[in-house]
Amino acid sequence: MKFVITAGPTREPLDPVRYLSNRSSGKMGYAIAAAARETGHEVILISGPVALTAPAGAEVVPVTTGEEMFATAAAHFARCDVFVMCAAVCDYKPARYAAQKMKKERGAFSLALEPARDILSSLTSSPHDCFVVGFAAETEELRRNAQRKLAEKKCDLLVANDVARTDIGMDSDDNELLIFFKSGAEKKLWREKKTELARTLLKIILDAREKCLTKKT
Ligand code: CTP
Repeated sequence: MKFVITAGPTREPLDPVRYLSNRSSGKMGYAIAAAARETGHEVILISGPVALTAPAGAEVVPVTTGEEMFATAAAHFARCDVFVMCAAVCDYKPARYAAQKMKKERGAFSLALEPARDILSSLTSSPHDCFVVGFAAETEELRRNAQRKLAEKKCDLLVANDVARTDIGMDSDDNELLIFFKSGAEKKLWREKKTELARTLLKIILDAREKCLTKKT
């Protein structure tokens, strides 16, 4: 089966030396890619800038900005069986890129930002055959926000994690996941190493995809 997985942060440049980004390490996405490779699947890993070694046998496509990630994902979306949108994409980008390093001036400074594309929503808005897995990074009202994202972003399954905690989630080796299915069912995966969680998550994804295909036929 062919998996396309996005991982890590995106970066939106401000000037030649500065950018907007977030704390995503890419560990969860890379762990899912490794789990898929371990079980013999083809993996295209679209990765934002991270300090991780590529899982053996995965085809890694490095990207930096959200638009680069979108263009790469769009090129593979129609031809994959499972699409996993694990990347932490910047929601805003600088309204203008300054070709020269911006000089500091006295007093307060504010930055004009404009919305960045929602990659997942852009991809799922057209008809597609692949099974779509979204993620949600939440600091509050995890269940309500995750259920909304599952529906609004037209995912088949959505994996939510609490990024307010410092012992799990962003940049940590561990995570705890709450998985939401289109049927309304939920499944909790308690705290564990991301590498282990990814193996369990992979089985859940493949099982849900199988059920989804059975329903369609
Ligand atoms: N996502 C995306 N493009 C964006 C932002 C998010 O494709 N510009 C994807 C993420 O990869 C994830 C899902 O949408 O699969 C939810 O991302 P999350 O950061 O939890 O939520 P947002 O949609 O950014 O909403 P908010 O920041 O308000 O929670």
